[in-house]
Amino acid sequence: MKYIDEVDIKGKTVFIRVDFNVPLDQNRNITDDTRIRAVLPTINFCLEGNAKVILATHLGRPDGQRLEEGSLAPVARRLAYRLHKKVTLAPDCIGPEVDKLKKAMKRGDVLLLENLRFHPGETKNDEEFARELMKGVDIYVDDAFAVAHRAHASVEAVTRFAPSVAGFLMRDEVHYFHKCLEDPARPLVALIGGAKISSKLAALVNLLKHVDKLIVGGAMATTFLKAMGYDVGKSLVDNSLLKTARDLMKTALKKKVKFYLPVDCVVADRIDKRAETKISPVQEVPDGWIIADIGPATVTLFGEALQNAKTIVWNGPMGAFEYDAFSRGTMAMVHKVAESYALTIVGGGDTDVALHKAGEFQKFSYVSTGGGAFIELLEGKKLPGIVALEEWAKRNSHD
Ligand code: 3PG
Repeated sequence: MKYIDEVDIKGKTVFIRVDFNVPLDQNRNITDDTRIRAVLPTINFCLEGNAKVILATHLGRPDGQRLEEGSLAPVARRLAYRLHKKVTLAPDCIGPEVDKLKKAMKRGDVLLLENLRFHPGETKNDEEFARELMKGVDIYVDDAFAVAHRAHASVEAVTRFAPSVAGFLMRDEVHYFHKCLEDPARPLVALIGGAKISSKLAALVNLLKHVDKLIVGGAMATTFLKAMGYDVGKSLVDNSLLKTARDLMKTALKKKVKFYLPVDCVVADRIDKRAETKISPVQEVPDGWIIADIGPATVTLFGEALQNAKTIVWNGPMGAFEYDAFSRGTMAMVHKVAESYALTIVGGGDTDVALHKAGEFQKFSYVSTGGGAFIELLEGKKLPGIVALEEWAKRNSHD
């Protein structure tokens, strides 16, 4: 693909697809603006080039309807604060009023279009909608890695109507992912957690083709433990995937991938902040109790497995870390990974929250802004947003 610093943006009208799908509290205050800060280099690059900057994003899933709670007003305010600059929020993302605002723009102006998903054409990858979005646009820049796994109009179809390049965030995401899976310094270790094995099965299968060690924690490890014949009490188990879990472990053995599971755990009588808890070897989970976190022996084991790693990729917490009583395992692993000398790459919303909670965010080599997009890359899938940029570059390789 081509990147933004390979084209002339000076004085041009640049449309940047960003992912400002940020978390909001009940009062619609932004609780984490990482995704806004992550695209500031691309926006500032355009502003320094005296471009007219049009920004477009989705927020939530309003399903093609105009919803008050889907409005980008809080995002516009936070962006203005981060840019130290006026940001005009358009009343819509297409239509006569937006066209008028686009025409009135001066160099160095920033116009944020209203939520793309207020229009059904966005998620349908509708060509007419994409054409409307690109009206008056000189260059399309995709800096929305977190939505690159969606073949939506502002991600895919738009590349048929304007020169299409990637922004700096997209460049970093692609670069670090390549460093971690395609061309890693070895040993390459994947640390995978989270609740459901079903949502990460394809990623585990693909990772076995790449990694030297695979460490599985979190509630999903319970399915593996049950597949090995352990009694896991009332823990969350995907019973339909017990054979798949066994097959995965066999594949790991065959491929000589070192495979690690918890050896002890924090068990609780219920998942609640007043729950009774104790530490138990995985062989001795009490009847009716639930595995809620990895235990201290597992932290030591996983930490030792990470010792000689040169590259670590991590997705998913080690337990129900939103509760203090079950957060020690995840927090301990944050510190272990942060202290390692490896290139450390983390993806997924929950894991990102854990790094912030542990105060170690800065110690990681790269924290992806992608949730679903990051997982799909781990699954070995080609993302439509990336493919569209590559295809555009291929069609225009004479430039
Ligand atoms: C995300 O938060 O993962 C992206 O913004 C994509 O959102 P979506 O899952 O609603 O498409």
